[in-house]
Amino acid sequence: MKELIYLDNSATLFPKPKEVLDFMDHFYRHYGVNPGRSGYDLCLEAEQMVQETRKLLTEFFHGKKYEHLVFTYNASDSLNMIINGILKPGDHVITTTLEHNSVLRPLHHKYSDGKIEVDYIPFDSQGYVDPDDFQKRFKKNTKLVIINHGSNVIGTVQPVEEIGRLCREHGVIFAIDAAQTAGVVPIDVETMNIDLVAFTGHKSLMGPTGIGGLYVGEDIEIEPSRVGGTGVRSAYPFHLPEYPYRLECGTLNVLGIAGLNAGQKYLHKVGVDNIRRNELSLLERLQKGLMEIEGVTLYGSTSLENRLAVLSFNIDSYKAIDAGTLLDVDYNIATRTGLHCAPKVHEQLQTMPEGAVRVSIGPFNTEEHIDHCINAVKEIASTKKG
Ligand SMILES: Cc1ncc(COP(=O)(O)O)c(C=O)c1O
Repeated sequence: MKELIYLDNSATLFPKPKEVLDFMDHFYRHYGVNPGRSGYDLCLEAEQMVQETRKLLTEFFHGKKYEHLVFTYNASDSLNMIINGILKPGDHVITTTLEHNSVLRPLHHKYSDGKIEVDYIPFDSQGYVDPDDFQKRFKKNTKLVIINHGSNVIGTVQPVEEIGRLCREHGVIFAIDAAQTAGVVPIDVETMNIDLVAFTGHKSLMGPTGIGGLYVGEDIEIEPSRVGGTGVRSAYPFHLPEYPYRLECGTLNVLGIAGLNAGQKYLHKVGVDNIRRNELSLLERLQKGLMEIEGVTLYGSTSLENRLAVLSFNIDSYKAIDAGTLLDVDYNIATRTGLHCAPKVHEQLQTMPEGAVRVSIGPFNTEEHIDHCINAVKEIASTKKG
């Protein structure tokens, strides 16, 4: 079989670094017990790894309190926890049309139950939201601004620092969906004025699926939306109010946390900046190549500033799904087609209902992969015309 060219890293980063897989295997074989539940050595070792990972991730986001870094299933889970744990009937929320369904749907459920008001800020022709638009929408009952940090469709990275500053001025909680950025774009909750960071483990943080997290700023009040066992203070009849237990319940995903632990060490060794530089240089090559092909439309900014290595496009007279199928079947290139769980982005791009073909570059892609993809698109575009 020909080598698969994997260009679907926004869906999940693949493959994972060997160091991550090796550590997960080693840890689970030798220490895979329930952390924090007993005092025997193995249990303490497992607990120590969990706490070390909290610390590594807290420092990674420049947070202050590592107990406020809680483990969840994924970004969707963390975003649900934010929306369900903070909003009360009568609250107003500001978000954007760049959002993934993991923000849109929990908000829409509350909105359609008549509980909250929601404003959606559109993006400009390059794919960025304007902080002034937020400034204009603040109201007395605005409780939360929740926005996509980096788009999984058009790759634009939003000006969170400025939006965060406005939120601070208005006393509004500011949350970011860092599913696509954590691990590849530096996040500093202090300088960027961020109250909550929702992240997933299986993308640029290099971990496996099924693990994610939420960093909660010190003064943020968030109610637990799930309650249960914590392994400590078992006689207390309510869920524990203190962190990290407040937002965690049941046995933790130790294997996933081990993956995040090794992922952190890998990122420190290789360097987020190096990974990002490499990905963006491949993006530039891809953009240049695709731009020269007649009949190909690219979406979003063509600049490399404030950008992830994600590019969506369409080929004239092809449905996105057909172009993606040809890339897969004839050229062994894995991409993602359709609406990418972000319907409002496609509404604004006027690419509904078919969506677009998305190429998302990861740390293990090469110039050869990109050239192969450009040539494939060139052949597909010319075949239909001929
Ligand atoms: C921008 C964005 N937010 C949220 C998510 C949800 O991440 P997960 O599926 O890991 O919960 C994704 C997943 O692709 C995403 O791209």
